[in-house]
Amino acid sequence: MCISINSTLIKQMASTMHKLILLQTLITILSMQTLTAQNSNLFTEYIGAIFNGVKFTDVPINSSVDFHFILAFAIDYTDTSSPSPTNGNFNIFWDSTNLSPSQVSSIKQANSNVKVALSLGGDTVHDVPANFSPTSIDSWVSNAVSSLTSIIQQYNLDGIDIDYEHFSTDEATFASSIGQLITTLKNNGVISFASIAPFDSVNSYYMALWKNYSSVIDYVNFQFYAYSSDTTVTQFESYFETQRGNYNGGKVLASIGSAAGSGGLSPANGFFDACQTLKSKGELSGIFIWCADNSMANSFAYENQAQSLLASG
Ligand SMILES: *[C@@H]1O[C@H](CO)[C@@H](O)[C@H](O)[C@H]1NC(C)=O
Ligand SMILES: *[C@@H]1O[C@H](CO)[C@@H](O)[C@H](O)[C@H]1NC(C)=O
Repeated sequence: MCISINSTLIKQMASTMHKLILLQTLITILSMQTLTAQNSNLFTEYIGAIFNGVKFTDVPINSSVDFHFILAFAIDYTDTSSPSPTNGNFNIFWDSTNLSPSQVSSIKQANSNVKVALSLGGDTVHDVPANFSPTSIDSWVSNAVSSLTSIIQQYNLDGIDIDYEHFSTDEATFASSIGQLITTLKNNGVISFASIAPFDSVNSYYMALWKNYSSVIDYVNFQFYAYSSDTTVTQFESYFETQRGNYNGGKVLASIGSAAGSGGLSPANGFFDACQTLKSKGELSGIFIWCADNSMANSFAYENQAQSLLASG
């Protein structure tokens, strides 16, 4: 075997290497830019899962923020005492008596800064785990597109949120199904935004989705309240940076649960101080709260505090 490398070839290789290094540097600078200057005044509130009568009009809305309600939940299960999976045919499982199509229209008419979305999945359906369990990717996507399109149009909704927490498929099936669903609803003009709601123990599913479909995902509603309830400010800051890295370039929202005894960094332990620090670093893409139903007991104190922080300066 004879290998001859002449000096011209070596020079060409060196020049190519040089260009690659320059390109790599440029990419690094660009991705650092997408990691900074991401403050936004988005406030997001989940509502309707607990059936305690909470209405949109109970929740304080500061006109200086972008305010999103997310109805929890639409689930692809039968609404029966022994619920079973429907392969993407979604039914409404939120308190639709108190959160009806006409109430959606009224709250949006009264507040030009309000949009309303629905969330898919959730933890349980009538006390059994709500599993992501498509029969096939194509049939699930087709059923999901048609059933969700009719719910979204009936309720005059603007977006969807993905909150599956249990899975009977692998990551690739989840990523492909959900990615195609979001892409199709956006291409059809049915929704204008989409978010995902991961937490640590299901992150592999959502990171697989992010890997191929980040361009159609507008917000990452990371459930920081799924961490331990003794989370400190320092730990929260480290979790936040980790998730900003996992969802590189994404708008990761800070979050709390408003029920007594919720996990994560609580307001009493410095959640809003930590948000202020993120804001001063240009890293606060918004705040979300799970959930309005629970916040009623506390007169929506955290909702007021979060929106004031987002609206100020
Ligand atoms: C990534 O998305 C593209 C475009 O939707 C699709 O064609 C491709 O199969 C996806 N790849 C994976 C690994 O899901
Ligand atoms: C909205 O937030 C701003 C900024 O913090 C505050 O000055 C204002 O009073 C708030 N409005 C309401 C209605 O809470």
